[in-house]
Amino acid sequence: MTALRVRLPPRVLLFRLRAIALARRTADRSRRSPLSIWRLSRLLAFARGRDRIVELGTAAGWTAYSLALANSRARVTTYDREPRAGRDRYRRLVPARALERVELVLRRGEEGPEQPTSCDLLLIDADHWHPAVREMFDAWYGSVVPGGLVIFDDVAPEFPDVAQTIADLGLSGKRLGRLFVHQKPAA
Ligand SMILES: C[S@@+](CC[C@H](N)C(=O)[O-])C[C@H]1O[C@@H](n2cnc3c(N)ncnc32)[C@H](O)[C@@H]1O
Repeated sequence: MTALRVRLPPRVLLFRLRAIALARRTADRSRRSPLSIWRLSRLLAFARGRDRIVELGTAAGWTAYSLALANSRARVTTYDREPRAGRDRYRRLVPARALERVELVLRRGEEGPEQPTSCDLLLIDADHWHPAVREMFDAWYGSVVPGGLVIFDDVAPEFPDVAQTIADLGLSGKRLGRLFVHQKPAA
């Protein structure tokens, strides 16, 4: 059954297991917010060969660190509107060679990049409500290179505005569980 197949690089799996153990030990609820292992496995497959990655919605950083651990050339910039107690705890589980390629920025996704930038993959996983989802897309789509991917997380009944925004935008793409993957047309 394809739906159950999960493939994570050993480094990513090890990080995830250690992060879950740490979250349990410290009674940190962080383990509830990151992409599920199934979605992470799909995301990493789409991220293969895509070296400039932007994530909107850092939470505890688990997905950002996983993206950097999976691809030794990837540079991940991850944005969150608020600091999160404990984010530093998980940083310590990441080897320096991956950590140095992850930049955490305290900034609302709707504000867009601080300066003109380009990315090969944009993951939108922050505020799941209208009008924020649309504003984040509008603020960032210009930075996605032709052929680059925009991936929305949490396309799900409890967050109807995510699917509605995708429909309003008329985006082509494919749905994989709670993920929606759109490829920006080549110029
Ligand atoms: C579902 S969690 C992100 C999970 C993360 N992508 C992962 O897989 O580990 C959502 C995060 O988005 C942040 N957030 C909510 N609204 C935001 C906004 N407008 N701009 C940036 N971050 C936002 C929240 O603070 C929260 O940490």
